[in-house]
Amino acid sequence: MNVKGIGRRNILNSLSRRLSEDLNFKSGKIFGSMCTEPHNFARSVYSAHLEKNIGDPGLLRGTLSLEGDCIRMIGTILSHPKATGHMVSGGTEANVMALWSARNESRKEKPEVILSSLAHHSFKKAGDMLGLRLVVIPSDKHRLDASKITNAITSNTILMIGTAGTTDLGLIDPIQEMSEISGRFQIPIHVDASFGGFIIPFLKDHGSDLPDFDFRLKGVRSITIDPHKMGMAPIPSGAVLFRNRRALDTISYDTVYLAGGLKSRGTILGTSPGASIVSVWSLLNLMGQEGYQKTARSCMRLTEHLYQRLAGIDGVVVISKPEMNVLGFRSSRMKISDLSRQLRNKGYAISTFPTHLRLVIMPHLTRSHVEMFIETLIEVLGKNRHSSRAIKDRRSKAV
Ligand SMILES: Cc1ncc(COP(=O)(O)O)c(C=O)c1O
Repeated sequence: MNVKGIGRRNILNSLSRRLSEDLNFKSGKIFGSMCTEPHNFARSVYSAHLEKNIGDPGLLRGTLSLEGDCIRMIGTILSHPKATGHMVSGGTEANVMALWSARNESRKEKPEVILSSLAHHSFKKAGDMLGLRLVVIPSDKHRLDASKITNAITSNTILMIGTAGTTDLGLIDPIQEMSEISGRFQIPIHVDASFGGFIIPFLKDHGSDLPDFDFRLKGVRSITIDPHKMGMAPIPSGAVLFRNRRALDTISYDTVYLAGGLKSRGTILGTSPGASIVSVWSLLNLMGQEGYQKTARSCMRLTEHLYQRLAGIDGVVVISKPEMNVLGFRSSRMKISDLSRQLRNKGYAISTFPTHLRLVIMPHLTRSHVEMFIETLIEVLGKNRHSSRAIKDRRSKAV
């Protein structure tokens, strides 16, 4: 660190040089992120409230009441306006809180949680931190196989986890069937709708026949949903909702020293941004359900266009028809790792999974970005075909 400050102009110059190495959403090359460019209005509201620390809620009674409104509005989207919960830093914190609360409420000595091998890796972190045994059901068909759940249940099972909008392909686990099992065995469900929560309900509003996944299903105890993904809120903005208040009480701690005189909210973080609550509240009110329906439909239209374009390329295999704005594909001629590396060399940020490459068609992407990507993909596959043919020719000449 310098002894003396170096002056604002120097700092800003240095920042613009250094940060030019960052990828940005406007480039149209980020096809692998579940986050997006935050809505401009939410961004401006956020930056006006940077000083607010909701970790001391008694200081921020106004912000606290906005948090209550956010939970009610999100609860409405998830079919339970009376749900209780908190705005948190994102899907990981929300998932950890849901498991923490289930563990404390169950009071079992050796608690076990049943989940799919495709569940988000935050559950591994939660299992490790909370001393939970994770009973993993292999999911080779890209979603949880509900027929294997009953065999996995023991007297120590405290929770089942279902995902609405899987990380790898944006599919929905059979949460309806899980809810029936829940009724039979009295084992509650946590739904990770970190990604799907801000798109599935709005697609359903428009006639899509996606299955139920939320509090409408009796077995669902808690839901994770992230405004900083399809909700288009600034990072960090997550939420965890519980069907009953009691679930939240099991993880609430008294903090005696807080200046505002109220006890802490029962989230994992202490000091945390009230600005995130204020901006989510503003954004939910600005967008309304119609605003999110419009965004959901526009992302889906673009996803369907991309799906058709991919399906039309010789040598491209699309893994499954997209249910939401996530698409998986691979090449029948190139290894996944080679294709991923070559697209990355062309500046694309795409997620690589063992069976496919994943594209997430977020609101920052446009039709011309999709066309630019398709052109690049065709070029990469074409070059590879020529080079593999050249190698074959050379080999046959050598023979
Ligand atoms: C299904 C799912 N759950 C949880 C998370 C974790 O969310 P976060 O990165 O906000 O902690 C993700 C992240 O992509 C996800 O896809």
